[in-house]
Amino acid sequence: MPKPVIIDTDPGIDDALALLLAFGSPELAPVCITSVSGNVDVDTATDNILRILARIGPDPAPTVARGAASPLEKESEHATFLHGADGLGGAGGDLPDPWGESAPCLSPESAADSILRHIEQAREPPVLVALGPLTNVALAAQKAPDILRRLDRLIIMGGAVTVAGNITPAAEFNFYVDPLAARIVLDSGPKITLAGLDVTRKARLELRDLHACPDTPRTRLVQRITSSLFTHSQETEGTESIPLHDPLAVALAFRPELCGMEELSLRVETRGEICEGMSLADRRPVLPRLKHPPNARVCLDLDADSFRTLFLERVLWEQS
Ligand code: BDR
Ligand code: CA
Repeated sequence: MPKPVIIDTDPGIDDALALLLAFGSPELAPVCITSVSGNVDVDTATDNILRILARIGPDPAPTVARGAASPLEKESEHATFLHGADGLGGAGGDLPDPWGESAPCLSPESAADSILRHIEQAREPPVLVALGPLTNVALAAQKAPDILRRLDRLIIMGGAVTVAGNITPAAEFNFYVDPLAARIVLDSGPKITLAGLDVTRKARLELRDLHACPDTPRTRLVQRITSSLFTHSQETEGTESIPLHDPLAVALAFRPELCGMEELSLRVETRGEICEGMSLADRRPVLPRLKHPPNARVCLDLDADSFRTLFLERVLWEQS
């Protein structure tokens, strides 16, 4: 039986690719997709979810619920410099109307309520994959921590434990946008797998792989969505590849062996002058009993070749 999965997301170019991977993977049954303010404002993120689902046409359609419009305490910050004003690299208009006939209806529930309801009603404990700032998940944790703890696993794309940040030298974007939410979630007790920049930066889509794909509507869509990001990577990193942060987090819902993990005690800086949103793991070489107990399995190594093959197969090669 496919695993029920809830995805909280802020599409976002790599979020869009993550949704294509989730719906292209028979091991997963995505039952609920929730939007959050992050890469773009929450209305644009919600529209993008609806557009992508209208294009995929999943049967049954998952519930879609709109989430938090801003972080718990901070002002909203977006990454349109990277993802484009429409969040989809300028390709949003190539996708169906988010409010048209082929799009699923938007639930009247809030994202936090929808997440909690789907955990309560699922036939088996679902996996929650969080691909944006953790605002909705923190609201769910504050409302019903016991229900959140029933998750089979909470997989978070966020943080940078042993490597540099991306939005600042210290912080990864999702944790930086809502560091308080990240702290609340890490302290709230579900079984957490953290896929931070330590591994997601190594999960790449190579331009030559995309060029080698059959010329199908799916390939053309992925080329359109990712084109500006390839240009950005070329100009800023000098590489012909882009990171697949969010798709890796989805892949871990059914292929946890892709990453080597370590149980660590992890905290998030919520107020630092230059380290706001930084994720700090206690990696001191002392006996475990002298530290706080671990609160997350932190991904530190990636089998990048296996992930690359999986992503290409599920998102590009097997799709028309
Ligand atoms: C994360 O930030 C966003 O821009 C991406 O969608 C991803 O979730 C990477 O730091
Ligand atoms: Ca994201």
